[in-house]
Amino acid sequence: MPRLLGFILALISFSFGIGFSLGIIYLAQLNQWPRVPIWVLALLSGVVSMLITWRLLPAWWRPVLLILPLAALFSLSINSWWWLFAAILLLAFQWNAIFTRIPLYRSDAMVAEVLMAYMQRDGQKSLLDLGCGDGRLLWRMAKAQPESQFVGIESAPMLYLIARWRCRNQPNCRIEFGDFWPRSWADFDVVFAFLSPEPMLPVWRKRLRESGEGAVLVSLAFLVPGIEPSELLPAQQFDMYLYRADYHAVVGQIIADASKLAT
Ligand SMILES: C[S@@+](CC[C@H](N)C(=O)[O-])C[C@H]1O[C@@H](n2cnc3c(N)ncnc32)[C@H](O)[C@@H]1O
Repeated sequence: MPRLLGFILALISFSFGIGFSLGIIYLAQLNQWPRVPIWVLALLSGVVSMLITWRLLPAWWRPVLLILPLAALFSLSINSWWWLFAAILLLAFQWNAIFTRIPLYRSDAMVAEVLMAYMQRDGQKSLLDLGCGDGRLLWRMAKAQPESQFVGIESAPMLYLIARWRCRNQPNCRIEFGDFWPRSWADFDVVFAFLSPEPMLPVWRKRLRESGEGAVLVSLAFLVPGIEPSELLPAQQFDMYLYRADYHAVVGQIIADASKLAT
């Protein structure tokens, strides 16, 4: 279902839920029923709007619609300065997500283990983390592998500051602020990405342009569309896909040779 349509449906059912509760208030006044607490009415609105869209919207909308009226009611009792504070905090952490549509989601310890094992196996000495978040992944690897170099680029200001602080005592871990797209990634043996499906093809293209046959990319969770990974590195959280330009050269050669044999 298109996102906008889902949103409109949710809004309509939300309005029905509120209307239902207002109707009850009206009937209560008319018939002099005992007063129902406002939070019960808010909860009732949530239940009604959730039930209306039960089969129409994806399941994750149900808890959202259920608690929305209660949350709206609760928000009225909060000093409005808190909202401003919360908005500033959110922007400081993730303002870039408005443009990049890539929020922070951290890799776990297993990802670091698998990445390090891969680097050691293939003799890779440096790694660039595209969007390093709070730097925890890099810090873990830099601590465990002091002979290798780890660099992260992060465009969310607070996350950049946290990552810098975290890596302050780790000389083989460097954190840079800004957008990773205009920078060169050519100096790194491995480029690691945990982003979203959208940028994966441009990421691989840039990697190929800059590093040619030596290009290596490890992507956590997201495939490069239309490109076969040379290897799957299983991690607990998600699978990791290893892309190696030389693998494609080899596969291409095998296919070319096979087609020569066939003629
Ligand atoms: C899913 S998190 C991954 C964090 C970290 N790499 C990890 O694996 O734990 C993606 C991060 O990329 C950052 N990001 C997204 N687009 C970016 C860009 N163009 N330049 C720099 N950072 C970016 C986001 O702010 C977010 O912190």
